[in-house]
Amino acid sequence: MTAAQHRLLSRLSAEAEERLGRPEAVAFLARLEVQFLDAYEPLDALYGAAHDVDALVERLVRLALRAAQERPADLREVDRRREVDRYWYQRARMVGYVCYVDRFCGALRDLPERLDYLAELGVTYLHLMPLLKPRPGENDGGYAVMDYRAVDPRLGSMDDLETVARALRGRGVSLCVDLVLNHTAKEHEWARRWLAGDPAYAGFYTAFPDRTMPDAHEATIAEVFPDRAPGSFTWFDEANGGSGGWVWTTFWSYQWDLDYSNPNVFATMLDTILWLANRGIDIFRMDAVPFMWKRLGTSCLNQPEVHSLMQALHALVKLAAPATIFKAEAIVSPDELVPYLGGHERYRPECELAYHNQLMVMLWSSLATKDARLATRALQRMRTIPTEASWVTYVRCHDDIGWAVSDTDAAAVGWDGFRHRSFLNDFFAGRYPGSYARGALFQENKATGDARISGSAAALCGIADALDRGDDAALERGIRRLVLLYAVAYAFGGAPLLYMGDELALRDDDGYLADPALADDNRWMHRPRMDWAAAARRHDPSTLEGRTFGWLQRLAAARKNLLALRAGGESAIVDVGNPHVLAWRRRHPRSGHFVGLANFAETEQSVDTAAFHGLGWVETVLASDGPVEVRGGRAHLPGLGFAWLAER
Ligand code: GLC
Repeated sequence: MTAAQHRLLSRLSAEAEERLGRPEAVAFLARLEVQFLDAYEPLDALYGAAHDVDALVERLVRLALRAAQERPADLREVDRRREVDRYWYQRARMVGYVCYVDRFCGALRDLPERLDYLAELGVTYLHLMPLLKPRPGENDGGYAVMDYRAVDPRLGSMDDLETVARALRGRGVSLCVDLVLNHTAKEHEWARRWLAGDPAYAGFYTAFPDRTMPDAHEATIAEVFPDRAPGSFTWFDEANGGSGGWVWTTFWSYQWDLDYSNPNVFATMLDTILWLANRGIDIFRMDAVPFMWKRLGTSCLNQPEVHSLMQALHALVKLAAPATIFKAEAIVSPDELVPYLGGHERYRPECELAYHNQLMVMLWSSLATKDARLATRALQRMRTIPTEASWVTYVRCHDDIGWAVSDTDAAAVGWDGFRHRSFLNDFFAGRYPGSYARGALFQENKATGDARISGSAAALCGIADALDRGDDAALERGIRRLVLLYAVAYAFGGAPLLYMGDELALRDDDGYLADPALADDNRWMHRPRMDWAAAARRHDPSTLEGRTFGWLQRLAAARKNLLALRAGGESAIVDVGNPHVLAWRRRHPRSGHFVGLANFAETEQSVDTAAFHGLGWVETVLASDGPVEVRGGRAHLPGLGFAWLAER
């Protein structure tokens, strides 16, 4: 640390004691000492060339100090607990659930009544889909925020959100809320003031006067919504003082990208996060982070500065709200994914959690091909993640599925990457001969031949098709597929996340087509309303709902007691000599091994138990069809069956 940095720290320590009182100031300053370089170095890398970093750091730490002062007493208690139990988010008891408030229960006020339902599923972390005040009309499912300090009035108020957070806390459930960092709605006050030429908001967004720069950038940027929102820039007459300009709009035209090369944008966003953390949000789902930094001649994704931004935000938020963690939404290739968890040459805390989209994609790919070789290869090849970080493992979410299958991995199993991705689109859109899936193509790009897939798990697993055809045997297979995928997600190591409705095999809903604000975006097909009448059948094992719900309960209950399923530490992918079976092994220093097996074939398969060589006596903890049979040194798994085995 330099002398200037020391002087800065001592100035801040006097102020901390004044604002927080002695005991809290001691804790704050200890955190500052620990986090200082984790904030300073990335800020220096981001802004050092053009700005006085010491002054910037001082300004940002003061924001954190003020937030620490305003932090409610009950949240300070959570801070204390989590500073002791630092890896609370890695516990085996972590089970997540994600839902839209309106679609799940109506409004925030109605949520506490539904907590018993979530408790039945063992839920300990609840992700409520975007709920901050969006722009009116089209708003990308709430990802076009107009006011970060207000709740969507249709869902309730900020007070209601705080009440929900308290109710969850009382039950040991943490609250996750989306934070849209990359862009705001064009109606946001920051955007309005930027347009009006308010100097405090100068440089908050980008508007190019002509097509020179947009064309140069678009030469290397892949479009997110090529079908309905092509390009990454939109012309607005009001920009540039009324002379017009091409505003950077990576997503829909009403979502304006913030310009993080401006430190005022960083400071404003930090202040927003700190304020929201003080409302009781435990986990911020950092939306679309890979897009936050632009560089000419690149894809404008995953730039090194994106990581510096997240690291600095992380360190500064920890100062005031140490109970808070970040979850990265970075739906990028496997090699680009690990850095969001801090996995760089040198570890630097970044996001504690990140969606394991590679596992998700591989699950669906294995299901379609009845072959686990590509999954085995791709997962084996992934870089290890820091022990402090964890995956969020999931099967479905509110978004489309993009086929993050690398050409190298495909080639390693003798497949052509492009053809395999096309096959997956055909298969899940139900266009491939013999396919049971009922999904739909999302954002088909006629120029590149790329597309993604929309559709509920029930549609993609063949449950919808079987129900429509009244085919019981097919329904049975559909249910086994859904359970198989969740059995991997719940035991892969990490925090599993259940997508609302999958516990009841809820089907697609085409009601969105009647709403002009939604009709253009077929992701709404797999964002159904909760069917509480179907939920009422959840305890009846003779029903579809009873069967799926029962399985998700059993998965959660079994994982809770398996120390080896605690996140932190890797899953080792094991080659068990059967192309249809995905096998993985985990270990916790205080427990024996865990082995997971998933058979993607529809027929019985066996694996060589020598693959578990070196393990003691292995017992079935949970399996699709009762204790796993071992005959002649081979363990047998029924078609679409899974097994969780543990060393005793
Ligand atoms: C994220 C969201 C997606 C949204 C996009 C733009 O990827 O998951 O639904 O369209 O960000 O905010």
